[in-house]
Amino acid sequence: MKYNIAVIKGDGIGPEIVTEAVKVLDAIGEKYGHEFVYTEALAGGCAIDACGIPLPQETIDICKASDSVLLGAVGGPKWDNQPGHLRAEKAILGLRSELGLFANLRPALMFDSLSDACPLRPELVEGGLDVLIVRELTGGVYFGERGRKQTEDMGEMAYDIMPYSEKEIERIGRVAFDMAMKRNKKLTSVDKSNVLETSRLWRSVMHKLKEEYPEVEYSDLFVDNAAMQLVINPKQFDVIVTENMFGDILSDEASMITGSIGMLPSASLGEGTRGLYEPIHGSAPDIAGKNIANPLATILSLGMMLRYSFGLQEEALAVENAVKAVLDEGYRTADIAKNGEKALNTQEMGAKVISKIK
Ligand code: IPM
Ligand code: MG
Repeated sequence: MKYNIAVIKGDGIGPEIVTEAVKVLDAIGEKYGHEFVYTEALAGGCAIDACGIPLPQETIDICKASDSVLLGAVGGPKWDNQPGHLRAEKAILGLRSELGLFANLRPALMFDSLSDACPLRPELVEGGLDVLIVRELTGGVYFGERGRKQTEDMGEMAYDIMPYSEKEIERIGRVAFDMAMKRNKKLTSVDKSNVLETSRLWRSVMHKLKEEYPEVEYSDLFVDNAAMQLVINPKQFDVIVTENMFGDILSDEASMITGSIGMLPSASLGEGTRGLYEPIHGSAPDIAGKNIANPLATILSLGMMLRYSFGLQEEALAVENAVKAVLDEGYRTADIAKNGEKALNTQEMGAKVISKIK
């Protein structure tokens, strides 16, 4: 089979990690007889430099014409003083909404061999950790109306509105319940319904949905409590579903519990099979261009692409098992290496994963 993939390397460490991930995908293609065709597109700071805007129409067109999209990371200090609508991050937000990618899957999976990188006491994560965060991705405060105005006596005022419709909540709820059915049939919905009206609607829609999934053990949690529960008893969770901003925050927290934010992949999906796959970490400008970034989150994101966009389960497993094997043998990049341990660089880590696939 032939698959067309839009490749957005982006800024910071983006180009380094994506380059390694693409080599891994080529190794998969060679082994299993698939042809992966790549079309590079600009987004983020590099697009601002080249065309003055973070998300050129050409990039949107390339993504829409592709079977799936791989993204590294965007943004960096060079573009931090851009006005809000021209910030590098706008590229990711624009892609998510242009491609209708409302469901963001963020698996926080702890690899056995990395358990000592977990900042929690060992007994709290004994036996590993496997939590899936399902984050709503195209609604809420990220996409609501925002602005500023002058007040008479309080100076300038800024506002960001957090709207949610029933339909938006229902479709992300379904994704989460379906995921729970495929896993351990346990779903926690996180909201702030003691304060927010959007959360009260969220909760009522989830409660209607849970009637359709009687096998799923369902519970509600306020977001502040969820943040706390994640560090005192992370193993109580299987699937967590939550709105856009809560999901942004909780997924960073969950990722660190698994050892390093440099390890976590994500899939952003919509109605069809086309998705956008990216590591959950950012562009890490402080280590960009040094060939020391961890490419594993991006490589694992490709594993998710193989599984969710192309339905290639065996190939997806091959990627995941290769990463696991490399870690089991003790190979580490600097972010996950213990003090004094020799770390592999980005390219060496990519090559190790490929050697396992072959
Ligand atoms: C993420 C990132 C993005 C987000 C930023 C870069 C806009 O933090 O994917 O988690 O907030 O969604
Ligand atoms: Mg984030």
